[in-house]
Amino acid sequence: MSATPRIQVPQNLDEPLPMTLPRIAEKKRLGEPIVMVTAYDYPSAQVAQDAGVDIVLVGDSGAMTVLGYPSTVPVSTDEMLMLASAVRRGLRTPFLVGDLPFGSYEASDEQAIATAQRFIKEAGCDAVKLERGGTSVQRAKAIVDSGIPVMGHVGLTPQTATALGGHKAQGRTADNALTVARDAVALQQAGCFSVVFEAIPAAVTEVLIEHLEIPVIGIGAGPAADGQVLVFHDLLGIYDGHVARFVKRFADVRTQMVAGVAEYAAEVRSGAFPAAEHTYSIDEEELARFRAEF
Ligand code: KIV
Repeated sequence: MSATPRIQVPQNLDEPLPMTLPRIAEKKRLGEPIVMVTAYDYPSAQVAQDAGVDIVLVGDSGAMTVLGYPSTVPVSTDEMLMLASAVRRGLRTPFLVGDLPFGSYEASDEQAIATAQRFIKEAGCDAVKLERGGTSVQRAKAIVDSGIPVMGHVGLTPQTATALGGHKAQGRTADNALTVARDAVALQQAGCFSVVFEAIPAAVTEVLIEHLEIPVIGIGAGPAADGQVLVFHDLLGIYDGHVARFVKRFADVRTQMVAGVAEYAAEVRSGAFPAAEHTYSIDEEELARFRAEF
């Protein structure tokens, strides 16, 4: 008989268990808020890991926050996959969702499945996210049917913000709120495991949450949502662009980064850096021999 114990005891009992779809659904059932944040590279993923978030989204907001594009529209699948792969390497426990970029899933079910598969196979994502109701509902269903979990996204959908009349709140008329509601219910029926509500009135979320079984992750959708998501660079104050009304800054990292680099520049210019403790020594005899031979 083997002496190997049958039950594997976790090595680090403080480490949370990896987040899974059943655990995300359980959180909604128990009324435990779900914490989601975006990340775009290895260090931001490590920060999300150490901070103990539940879900990490490699958002196409990375087009603007880390790649410097003017909107989320230009980012390519290859660029998103590079960001997502780096995030994967920095995570152990949060559930990882990759954002399908504009133009990578709308044309056909086949295109949507092929792009979603790349996020799973090449970047190691656990799920993908796509934007809008309408034709995206059928794309979501096709991806779900192919065995890949999908998160929906309704309300303000930045990939098609021009068609929505700009980056503005949605669901502020009864008709528009009904559109948001129908899209959310359709995405749930298509098999999405969760849906993001972006920039819709808190009172509309309160009504809709009663009609949805899947967790709603809000960004500018009020406190009734089952969870919240914010863009990493917005919440930490790293990004120097416009921030939406729904952003709360929890830190002012950019100011600290600029101050740090400015101090470094000043010390290099004044000669204060590097000091003796930042340099390596050489034995006097070796130095003398080196001088003599050079
Ligand atoms: O791209 C992104 O960061 C997003 C979140 C705002 C939900 O889609």
